[in-house]
Amino acid sequence: KEKLSGNVAIDGPAGAGKSTAARLLAQKLGYLYIDTGAMYRALTWKALKRGINVFAEKQLVALAEETNIYLESTTGGILKVYCDGEEVTKAIRQENVSCHVSAVARVPEVRRRLVELQRKMAASNRVVMDGRDIGTNVLPEAPYKFFLTASLAERAQRRYQELLAAGQPAALEKIKEEIHKRDVQDSLREVDPLQPAPDAVIIDTTNLWIEEVVDKMLSIIYERHNFG
Ligand code: DC
Repeated sequence: KEKLSGNVAIDGPAGAGKSTAARLLAQKLGYLYIDTGAMYRALTWKALKRGINVFAEKQLVALAEETNIYLESTTGGILKVYCDGEEVTKAIRQENVSCHVSAVARVPEVRRRLVELQRKMAASNRVVMDGRDIGTNVLPEAPYKFFLTASLAERAQRRYQELLAAGQPAALEKIKEEIHKRDVQDSLREVDPLQPAPDAVIIDTTNLWIEEVVDKMLSIIYERHNFG
């Protein structure tokens, strides 16, 4: 099969299935998977560890400048996240980080720094990149853009099942509230809010299996590639 030439941008709210779909799609295409949310999470993790208030913008900007965030993503492999050389793959999924990450991601200078890193990664690799502002801001030239959504109830249910499967205590209502709060914050912020790019294909994943989502994206990509 002829090689595709172009990056894939996947955006959407928390729990819409972006990361799993993006990872599987990257495997199928032989691209690198880049989880940009993990980068905002890693910085938030470090801020919390340092006792920095997530509303102290200047301190967050200084922290972003001096922090080395590295994603180890192998083609088709699992993604490992490093913060200043320390592996934080699991730590950044803790609830405390989830609760505070939107506040950190609001800060324009923090975003500028992380977006710069993201663009660098996309420049030297073929990538499937997921986040909130990939199609609109990070990779506006990407030829393939998707925006995944799902009902709040479904997204909360998925997160709940994930936590249970991982043997962690979870309360559905609380998860629902947390996800909703994060969506509102991410959608209403001034800089690069969560919204579909005008040229993104919107996929509602509420009633789809993850494999169906990936197949849908693949067929759209190949269709565009052949006829575009
Ligand atoms: O995808 P996630 O839930 O791991 O993302 C964590 C937070 O990071 C999310 O609430 C918003 C922020 N984020 C962002 O502002 N821009 C991105 N490109 C990715 C994530």
